[in-house]
Amino acid sequence: IFIFLRLINVFHTYSILGCDDYLGSGKVMDKCGMCGGDNTTCRLVSGVFKHSLSKIGYHKIVEIPEGATKINVTEMMKSRNYLALRSRSGRSIINGNWAIDRPGKYEGGGTMFTYRRPNEISSTAGESFLAEGPTNEILDVYMIFQQPNPGVHYEYILPFEKPLIPQQPNHRPEGNAVNGHSGNDHHNKQENLNPGAGGRYPPRLPDNQVPVVQPPRRERDYNWKLSGATECSASCGKGFRYSVFHCVHRLNHVAVSDSLCDSNSKPSPQEEPCNLQPCPAFWDIGEWSECSKTCGLGMQHRQVLCRQVYANRTLNVHTSRCRHLERPETASTCQLKICSEWQIRSEWTACSVPCGLGQRSREVRCVSNLGDFVLDEECNMNLRPVDIENCDMGACAKSWFYTEWGNRCSAECGMGVRTRGVLCLTNHISSLPLEGCGSERPADSQVCNNGPCENRIEWFTGPWSQCSAECGAGSQQRSVVCLMKSDEGFTVMPPYECSSLERPLSQQSCNLKACGAKWYHTDWSACSKTCEGGFRVREVRCLSDDTLSSESCDEQLKPTEREDCNPEPCVPHIDENCRDKYYNCNVVVQARLCVYDYYKTTCCASCSRVAHRQSIHRGRS
Ligand SMILES: *[C@@H]1O[C@H](CO)[C@@H](O)[C@H](O)[C@H]1NC(C)=O
Ligand SMILES: *[C@@H]1O[C@H](CO)[C@@H](O)[C@H](O)[C@H]1NC(C)=O
Ligand SMILES: *[C@@H]1O[C@H](CO)[C@@H](O)[C@H](O)[C@H]1NC(C)=O
Repeated sequence: IFIFLRLINVFHTYSILGCDDYLGSGKVMDKCGMCGGDNTTCRLVSGVFKHSLSKIGYHKIVEIPEGATKINVTEMMKSRNYLALRSRSGRSIINGNWAIDRPGKYEGGGTMFTYRRPNEISSTAGESFLAEGPTNEILDVYMIFQQPNPGVHYEYILPFEKPLIPQQPNHRPEGNAVNGHSGNDHHNKQENLNPGAGGRYPPRLPDNQVPVVQPPRRERDYNWKLSGATECSASCGKGFRYSVFHCVHRLNHVAVSDSLCDSNSKPSPQEEPCNLQPCPAFWDIGEWSECSKTCGLGMQHRQVLCRQVYANRTLNVHTSRCRHLERPETASTCQLKICSEWQIRSEWTACSVPCGLGQRSREVRCVSNLGDFVLDEECNMNLRPVDIENCDMGACAKSWFYTEWGNRCSAECGMGVRTRGVLCLTNHISSLPLEGCGSERPADSQVCNNGPCENRIEWFTGPWSQCSAECGAGSQQRSVVCLMKSDEGFTVMPPYECSSLERPLSQQSCNLKACGAKWYHTDWSACSKTCEGGFRVREVRCLSDDTLSSESCDEQLKPTEREDCNPEPCVPHIDENCRDKYYNCNVVVQARLCVYDYYKTTCCASCSRVAHRQSIHRGRS
């Protein structure tokens, strides 16, 4: 009974609770939960189930006896296998009937089991059951096998005084050096432990006492006897089993060593299909996808297929065949790690300026939950504390700044001025108070005197007059006078006094702007007639600035080229000497005396008027 148990004196996996806090006794809870105990009232049972399995389905791993405490069954690595738990009385506690339960708390065997299935993508931890116990009945732990078993560690504590209940694991616990066990047929045998799929299948052929092979004469004392058949290779969905022969004593059929029979005459094992009924459909659960977030709460997904095993093959089937099972979640929340946090790593720096508006900064870093600096992107950018801000050091003090006085006086002789630069600027001295820029601006010019002028004679010029032409070439003038400068002032001198000096120009050409094309014309010609309407002409040309013929003059403004002239009627030439010298010349005309030369001369004006009238009259008739 005890060979499967390993006694371990070091119980570091379980915390030792102080009980003196409550009793004031200075005593400590021992590993067995006894206040002030000496660890001798209990023992730890532990082992690792590492057998390789070949059949998909439920396989018993270990039995947990009644009275066990601190139960811990943990898959050593993440796998697609599932742990399952069932009470000896037949009640399924976790993952029974091909249904996969969600991680959580499940009551059974008088205690509460915590079932965990870590599903973070980064986690390599496998499934586990934990319970404080004590249990009030035997519990069987199974594995729902889907892929090679990475090993299942189990441990629990049993009180010493209780008689230990024999375990019936289908393997030997790791580390057990003792092997005195025999006679247990269950050992190393795969039981069909599918708790929901119709129980056990009849695995054996009926015993047959009839020897099927006659041994040769000299070995007639022993012969081969059909003693049964192997376990079916599959618990469902078609497997095979093979007949098994043992060497027995011919007379009493007592089994003896096979070496006593002739191995050549051993019948070859017969193959027989078995467990043809279809396996229950099950949810085949894929790997979780990567978590959608590298930190904080994210989502992950996995594929869940309804599948069924037949003739050693796993087939995809319609999901309705799995409806007797709760469909496993295909999406789950996940959190690979807690998101990193912003940390302020330094005080604010001093303001960048001694006065006025400047900036100051401080160090802000994204720090992982392990305390390492990580990239800013790993922290919530919305919550980033400011690491740079404006600072106002108050109004800057200003002072007058000025240069030294210039060396040069503006006048070569007599009174002049000299200057210096004066500016109002921000001062950067904060240690001593400086006078601010008041309204009293320091003078930027100063009288200077290079000594008295000896009577100097110079040409002086006035300003240029305006240009004589609005456009095109013109000229402008200025006055140029010869002056003598003395301490008393200026005196105008005759120009010859300055003749030894170069005389500045008093006239220069000017050209304010180009004129563009313009109409030019000649004078009118003579009139074609002296009286009674004639005409006269002139030539008009459009000329550009450079006096070339141009087309760009305004036709509207073109001067006329021809006009009428001398419209007055023609009058006879009146001779100055042809006057009436007689007072009564009209009588002479009436008396028709003009034919006479004497009267024609004496009354010249009246007589020639009559002659002109008569000539017109004659021309009309
Ligand atoms: C019981 O075991 C614990 C853990 O190994 C140990 O710290 C403690 O000293 C032991 N108590 C006695 C009385 O041996
Ligand atoms: C259960 O056992 C596993 C594997 O030995 C171990 O990693 C884990 O810490 C144990 N859990 C508790 C609660 O003792
Ligand atoms: C079933 O498949 C396994 C693994 O592929 C193989 O080892 C075994 O021989 C097969 N059994 C039958 C009955 O085909």
